[in-house]
Amino acid sequence: MPTLLLLPGDGIGPEVTAQVRRVAERIMPELTLETRLFGGCSFDDLGTPLTDEALALARASDAVLMGAVGGPKWATAPRHLRPEAGLLNLRSGMGVFANLRPALCFPALADASTLKREVVEGLDIMIVRELTGGVYFGQPRGVETLPDGQRRGVDTQVYTTSEIERVSRVAFELARGRRNKVTSAEKSNVMETGLLWREVVTALRARDYADVTLEHMLADNTAMQLVKNPRQFDVILTDNLFGDILSDEAAQLTGSLGMLPSAAIGVAGSPGLYEPIHGSAPDIAGQGVANPLAAILSFAMALRWSLGRADLADRLTGAVESALSGGARTRDLGGSLGSGEMGDAVLACL
Ligand code: NAD
Ligand code: IPM
Ligand code: MN
Repeated sequence: MPTLLLLPGDGIGPEVTAQVRRVAERIMPELTLETRLFGGCSFDDLGTPLTDEALALARASDAVLMGAVGGPKWATAPRHLRPEAGLLNLRSGMGVFANLRPALCFPALADASTLKREVVEGLDIMIVRELTGGVYFGQPRGVETLPDGQRRGVDTQVYTTSEIERVSRVAFELARGRRNKVTSAEKSNVMETGLLWREVVTALRARDYADVTLEHMLADNTAMQLVKNPRQFDVILTDNLFGDILSDEAAQLTGSLGMLPSAAIGVAGSPGLYEPIHGSAPDIAGQGVANPLAAILSFAMALRWSLGRADLADRLTGAVESALSGGARTRDLGGSLGSGEMGDAVLACL
């Protein structure tokens, strides 16, 4: 029996994963659902944002679906005990180095974006974000006090060829099943890692993916092009930090941050980690108004990438599309439905 580990987390995390649970129980009754504390709530109850037991269970499951972690309550906790540190440890502990963040504008939402319909209509971008390296994990890092009393903060951006190559491979493979184009975004004009990134991607393409169109674009220009003419992109391949920023930007093209799912995958056969790209949204947490669609679509990605049920993934995505076409809208999309009512709308379409 396949197992899905649910990690609801903090803030709106439990509100959106509650809707995933309802959908999962309906669409795949044979799926065993486990739940563990994770993030700030785990720190409060168990003294750490990610227990060894939860990580071991994550590794032993077929897929892991998390809501969101973090919030003002834990902003002053020591760095290594913060909810976000638990998330980074989960990602690296599961070895999920490639993060797929699809920005898809559902037809019914072409007017929900703050950008003009003609700019976002038909949008279908796949952002492939490197997830277990770069400045998120590089050493040294920390804040020290200098002899003159100043403080000095250090983060280190670091990439090896193999780290760049394995995530690039995922991007090229995905492009082959789509519109056959990869845009690699970095800052090779100022960063050493950016230069290495460009060289490694270029060499890999020449060696194994000569049939795929490869374009290099500086990351700042990529941010601008995303709002100017987003449909020029097929697959965007980028590092951990740029991928974080560009994917929030791309989310807004789809109507709302509450729409964008993600799948983090590692070596073939290992469990994937599925998460909406949004955070715990402290400003609306506890009100029951969060959009659960990013979480529900993340579950659809789990069905496709980890649970071997592309058929159910298509069915679920179709149900989300029908619910939206029928006018279902949470507040972030300009409507008035609560999280549970949006869940009802998707279930009705299933
Ligand atoms: P956020 O994504 O939580 O919220 C940004 C804005 O988008 C807010 O106005 C919020 O109300 C809105 N929003 C987000 N998700 C929504 C949804 N599903 N429905 C409707 N509106 C939604 O980003 P933030 O406020 O910068 O961060 C809050 C906390 O979340 C921080 O502690 C941060 O570290 C954490 N965070 C966690 C994750 C994660 O767990 N994967 C991701 C991003 C941020
Ligand atoms: C995301 C989030 C995380 C990130 C944080 C919460 C660690 O912003 O998943 O996009 O920066 O990767
Ligand atoms: Mn982010």
